[in-house]
Order: sequence, then structure tokens, then C-alpha cells
Amino acid sequence: MAERIAEEKLNEIRQAVDIVDVISDYVQLKKQGRNYFGLCPFHGENSPSFSVSPDKQIYHCFGCGAGGNAYSFLMEAEGLTFMEAAIKLADRANIDLQLDLSAVSAGKPVSKENQQMIEAHELLRKFYHHLLVNTKDGQHALEYLLGRGFTIESINKFEVGYALGTWDFVYKFLAKRGFSTALLEKAGLIIKREKDGSYFDRFRDRIMFPILDKNGNTIAFSGRSLGADEPKYLNSPETAIFNKSKILYNFHLARPSIRKLQQAVLFEGFADVIAADRSGVENGIATMGTALTDEHITLIKRNVQSVIICYDADNAGVEAAFRAATALSAAGSYIRVAQMPDGMDPDDYIKKFGADKFRNDVIGASIPFMSFKLLYYRRGKNLQDEGDRLQYIEKVVKEISRLDKAVEKDHYLRQLASEFSLSLDALMQEQQQYTRVENRKTTSKSAEKPAKKWAGAMKTEQLKPAYHTAERRLIAHMLRSSDVAYKVQERLAGSSFNIDEHQAIITYLFGYYEDGRAPDPGAFLNYLQDPKLKRLVADIEMMSINEEISQQEMSDYIKQVLNYQKMLMIKEKEAQEKEADRQKDFAKAAAIAMEIIQLRKSL
Ligand code: GTP
Ligand code: MN
Repeated sequence: MAERIAEEKLNEIRQAVDIVDVISDYVQLKKQGRNYFGLCPFHGENSPSFSVSPDKQIYHCFGCGAGGNAYSFLMEAEGLTFMEAAIKLADRANIDLQLDLSAVSAGKPVSKENQQMIEAHELLRKFYHHLLVNTKDGQHALEYLLGRGFTIESINKFEVGYALGTWDFVYKFLAKRGFSTALLEKAGLIIKREKDGSYFDRFRDRIMFPILDKNGNTIAFSGRSLGADEPKYLNSPETAIFNKSKILYNFHLARPSIRKLQQAVLFEGFADVIAADRSGVENGIATMGTALTDEHITLIKRNVQSVIICYDADNAGVEAAFRAATALSAAGSYIRVAQMPDGMDPDDYIKKFGADKFRNDVIGASIPFMSFKLLYYRRGKNLQDEGDRLQYIEKVVKEISRLDKAVEKDHYLRQLASEFSLSLDALMQEQQQYTRVENRKTTSKSAEKPAKKWAGAMKTEQLKPAYHTAERRLIAHMLRSSDVAYKVQERLAGSSFNIDEHQAIITYLFGYYEDGRAPDPGAFLNYLQDPKLKRLVADIEMMSINEEISQQEMSDYIKQVLNYQKMLMIKEKEAQEKEADRQKDFAKAAAIAMEIIQLRKSL
């Protein structure tokens, strides 16, 4: 099975598609000189720092550091794997990859057994759905759903189904179609009886919600009981194809809308996602009844930066919303929180007040995370009480001091000042104190918010020492010509670049040239695996450099690279000299002093 795409095919694709076309589907690009510019799709910005080079077929953002070729763009923009991006680009270029698509659809080769498990789930999904909508056996379940406000359209769209109340219908149904008992047990669809080793169906007399992965494969079910049967929702167990901590319900269907609106809405339950969809909010997703995991966050972050959290308006829901918002916001997402009257969940709200009101007064009226915090920290406090009030103000001012933007800080401080009749000056002073303490705590450590991180990165960029620029310029030339690359290698005479990432890039570059490949920025980006190095190479590619490097220029750069190493050596020798002096070993000190003089001369 061809789970790898041949390199010639990849190059063929790269030559056939123009990165400017590909990116234009996502970003409005304007030509300026040789390059195109636009607003970066990977971070919020108001002035364009995202550039695309048609000559080099790469993109780079000076704001957030994103960068790469057409493949990496699709991977980042759509959350695709490399394989998926290649399939998409090949499709665009009308190139036949001759792949077994069913096997690669998950991005990596799916084992035969996993493929069979998926097939069993797909069959059952269709069968359960048929039972619900077309048969007498499912009629009471259908009536239950319609009574709850589900429509036929959404039952069809989400392929909701019904599992019969019998003990072994599924077992027989799938066994007849050639699925082995062992496979069905592994898939979590049947359960073994302890006493006699016979099997029975896991899901009986339940409303069945199929769970799809991001490629649209059915990989699990969640079955809701019709009455008071416990548990209310019964999920498939964790299997080779289903991992709750990685799956977001409805992600597959919601992705186009999430991309289009540049926003996702996170719910607590399936019923909420489906009800919201019915009311026109199609970018809803939900965890499978678990807290948000790091894997969920990664998946969300790969696709969208802005998230509205719309959890139940009860105690548990508010606490969970606060935790999810904190985690997502720490990962760099922009969070808003949607609110409903006490005790309601989105599904109840829509049933009671209708779709328009849900869209406008709940989703449309969502508040920034900071405003939510102002409300959240009030909970359980009696603000008439002076002690509680001061505690609250202190907590909130501390939170405000962590905001990135001065205007935001100002906004919330004013709000606080006016609500509690405090002097704005006093609040500002207090806030500045917290800011100073925070800064001391987090210097050198990378700040959590991306905006801060980028600001920091840009500042250090300006302070970079001479050897840093010299190494970058050398790499830029080495990427364009293997002759130059080998010449630089010779001149370095066994020394390496001072910056580890730079050294890593040239190590890969020599590997790339040694395989007999020609200089080509786009192809080299594919050759690199590490996303961090890819970004760096894209960044270096975007530097403007002379067409050719002169002897003099090369010598200057090499000198800067080597001088830094000599300077380090001199520093070390000076320390050794001092130590020898201290130990009154003057002969040794004199010898070291000579070495230092030699080194200085060679600079
Ligand atoms: P309805 O009661 O059908 O409206 O569902 P809901 O979405 O309002 O459910 P609730 O708010 O109680 O729970 C939210 C989510 O938690 C559900 O969508 C499930 O994913 C999960 N959940 C709820 N009850 C159970 C349960 O008994 N077992 C498991 N495994 N998950 C549950
Ligand atoms: Mn509900």
C-alpha cells in the first residue's frame, strides 16, 4: 500500500501549483514589489505582516513567525496532515497520486483491523439511523426526539439513530457480514458475559449518536437512554480508533463553518451542538463529556484562534467554562463566554426562546473572558461586605494587570472604578505594581500570550549580535547554491555555527545536497521535518540578499562566526589566567596570557 508519496510526485505538485493561488483562497493578497502581502491568517492583526514570495514559493509572517511552503500552509490553515495536504494540492493540480484513499484518509496508514472496525461502525451507523427514521421499532425513540425539539433535518444531518432493545441483534447483524467476534469486542460493540463466555450488544434501547473523527469516519457511538435508565449517556469504550481525549464531537461537520467564521463555539453536550446547529450556529463542537484536554486544545488551535465557550448556566458549567477558558487562553486562543439565564443549557434555551434569540442574545452577546472573570470572581461573595469587596477588587485588579493591551486595562479599571466609586488613579497605581511583580517573575520565561511572545521575539531580533545575522546570511546563500554551501563548509574548517538551529539547518542542507538534489527552497522545506526549522528557513529565505556572494562578503561573515567562538575562548582563557594567578602559578598564567594575545591578534 502506498502510504508514502514519491518525491517526484511531490515535486510535480509543487511545480504545478502556485502558492499565491493557494493562499489567495484564505488571505486577501496585495502585490508589493516582488512579493505579496496580506493579513496573517495565523494570528490576529490589523496591518499586514504576512508575505508570500512567488519566486521562492514560500510564505512568512514577520509578526508570528509562521512560515513554510504550500504544504505547510494547508497543514496549518486547515489542520491537515502532510498526506492530506498533498492530496488536496494534487487534486488542485489534477495530478493522480495513485493512492488507496480509504487507507490514507486518516493521514497515516490505517491498519487493516482498524479499517474493519471503522467499517463495522459505518454499517451500524446507517442501520441505527434507518431503524430510527423508518421503522416501527424506532418510532417511540423518534417521537422522543421530536418531542425534545429535534427536527428531521437535524436527525438526518447528524445521522442520529436507534439501537434495538434486544440483547444480540448487533452481534448477529455484524457476524453475518463477516466481522469476527474478536474484532467486535475490540471495537467495544459487544461485551463478553463472565459466566458463560457468550456475548451481548453494548448498546440496547438507546438513541445513538455516531461519533466521527476529523476525517468523517465513524469511530464510536454515544447512546442516550430514553427514560431514566443510567447512565444517561453510554459511550463506546476507548479503542484503537477512539480516544475520547482527542475527539471533539461534530468537528468534522463544523470545520468549514469554523474556518469561514474564524470562530468555533464550544459546548458541553451533543444535544447542545445539535440544537445550536438547528438554530443556524453551525460551528459548534463539544467534548465527549470530559474536561478539555491538551489534545483538544491543539486540535482547536490548529484550526481557529477565536473560541466562544457556551456551557450550561449551572454551577458545574460555570466552573468548567472558567477552566476551559483559562486553558485555551493560556494556549493563545481568544476567548469569549456566552451566557444564559441561570440553570439553562443551550438546548433548553433554544427550545424555550427560539433560534433567533439564541443567535443574538446568547452567541451574539458573548462577553470577553476578562468580563466573564469579573462576574466569576463575584460568585459566593457578598460585595456589600467590605472585606469581600476589597478581596474581590484586589483579585480583579491582579487579573487586569495581566492583560496585554493598555486600552483593555484602562477599560476594565474604569469599569471597576465607577462600579465601586474608587479613584481611577489609585486603581491604576495598584495595577502597575502587579505588572511589575509579574514582569520580574516572567522575565526570560516565555510569556503565555502569543502577542507578548512575539513582541519579545521582535525586540530580541533587533539586539541580535553580529554573528547571528552573519549566520543567517550565509545560510541564505547556502540555500541558493550548493557550491557556496561547500565553500562555507571548507572555510569553517570543522567549526560549527554558534546558533544550534542554524547548525541543524546546515546539517540537513548538506544531507539534502548529498542526496544529489538541486537547490530549491520549497523542496528543502519538504525535506525538513521539524516545524521550528521550517519556519526559520522560511524566515531566512525572505531576507533580501545580493544575488551572489562575493569573496569579501563571505570572508566577513565567516570571520564574524569564528570570532564569536574565539571571543568565548578568550573569556575562558582569561578566567583560567586569573585562577592560575590566584594559585600563584605564574608560569602557567604567563603561558595562558600568551595564548590570549595570539587569539586577540587573530580576530
Ligand atoms: P440531554 O440531557 O440529553 O439534554 O443532554 P445534555 O447534553 O444536556 O447532557 P448534560 O448537560 O447532562 O451532559 C453534557 C455531556 O456530558 C453529554 O453530552 C455527555 O457527553 C456527557 N454525559 C452526560 N451524562 C453522561 C453519562 O451518564 N455518562 C457519560 N459517559 N457521559 C455523560
Ligand atoms: Mn440538555
